[in-house]
Amino acid sequence: MKTILVTGGAGYIGSHTVVALQDGGYQVVILDNLCNSKLVVLNSIQKICSKTPVFYQGDIRDRTLLSKIFNNHSISGVIHFAGLKAVGESQSQPLKYYDNNVAGSITLLEEILKAKVDTFVFSSSATVYGEPGASQYQEDMPTAPINVYGRTKLMVEEILGDSAKANPGLKVACLRYFNPVGAHSSGLIGENPVGTPNNLMPYIGQIALGILPRLKVFGSDYPTPDGTGLRDYIHVDDLAIGHVLALDYLERNPGAITVNLGTGKPYSVLEMIATFEKVSGKKIPYDLVERRSGDLAEYYANSGLAKAVLGWQAKHGIERMCEDTWRFYSQLGAQGS
Ligand code: NAD
Ligand code: UFG
Repeated sequence: MKTILVTGGAGYIGSHTVVALQDGGYQVVILDNLCNSKLVVLNSIQKICSKTPVFYQGDIRDRTLLSKIFNNHSISGVIHFAGLKAVGESQSQPLKYYDNNVAGSITLLEEILKAKVDTFVFSSSATVYGEPGASQYQEDMPTAPINVYGRTKLMVEEILGDSAKANPGLKVACLRYFNPVGAHSSGLIGENPVGTPNNLMPYIGQIALGILPRLKVFGSDYPTPDGTGLRDYIHVDDLAIGHVLALDYLERNPGAITVNLGTGKPYSVLEMIATFEKVSGKKIPYDLVERRSGDLAEYYANSGLAKAVLGWQAKHGIERMCEDTWRFYSQLGAQGS
């Protein structure tokens, strides 16, 4: 049985991927410093899979700990989720982001190479494209991220590409996620950010629970059918499967690959609200307000490469994304969290 090191495995996308890996027959070792997650997620993973991953609480920048993990376990590949992801904070505290996301990835990569681990899957983002002039993003389009967070993702992609060239044994997949939403169908794991959410679906979830009063819909004058922003929302379980398929792909193929993970079908903010209201029976009061700085009107994935090379295609649509988000939040509400 192969063992995969999952950095950031206690986080939102990481925890769903740990479930997909364990369901797919992998052993999992998690390294997470819990700066944006809670240990309780391990109990939830245990309930879902009847199997608990090995857990190390610590930082990807801790070389000694990394070398201990590689000595203790026969790791065949690494999926690297650990990173900071708040766009606004990345602008006000750039060094924190370059240190955590870029320097952290370099330390991890150095230790991986020392340990002769040859497989690396990296969490990148559609934000690396910036504003390419077309709203359907394809992997070979120019990249020009417009914020520090996006630049950290692009820098790590480039570092990995250069390292794969210099180390012919190293196999790398950079996965560019679009807008991950939803939760595991058990409702046991999902996205529950610390503090007021920046992102649409956790904000809607907290309104449904009565924690927040109303949603601000940022911009109603975009050149889109209903005037609100269009995004390629992707169910987190589909995203998780994409990582398992990326590992399968790397087993057969050397070199480095960059792949979009999105459904290819965008939805507007008002469509997300209406679908959430329909599946939850909860009213989501909202106000149409000014555009949010840095937001684009519309973007979505060309997901052809993911289908062609990974055999991956998103299965879950907007209703399922909203149903699973609501199941997760209603269970949180029942626990009084
Ligand atoms: P998350 O914050 O829920 O998970 C990240 C995890 O990494 C957290 O558990 C955190 O405690 C851990 N972590 C952060 N820095 C660490 C460090 N230095 N050492 C050890 N652990 C550390 O975020 P997520 O939404 O699950 O995102 C996972 C990855 O996917 C991130 O790299 C993020 O940038 C990327 N991504 C996320 C989105 C999104 O919208 N959620 C979109 C594109 C890309
Ligand atoms: N929105 C609102 N009100 C809110 C929050 C969001 O109207 O309170 C709107 C936004 O304007 C946008 C849509 O909902 O039109 C989605 O916004 P999110 O904040 O959920 O997501 P973004 O598209 O801004 O960004 C996400 C991730 C980033 C990542 C980017 C990649 O949060 O980490 O996708 O494309 F970089």
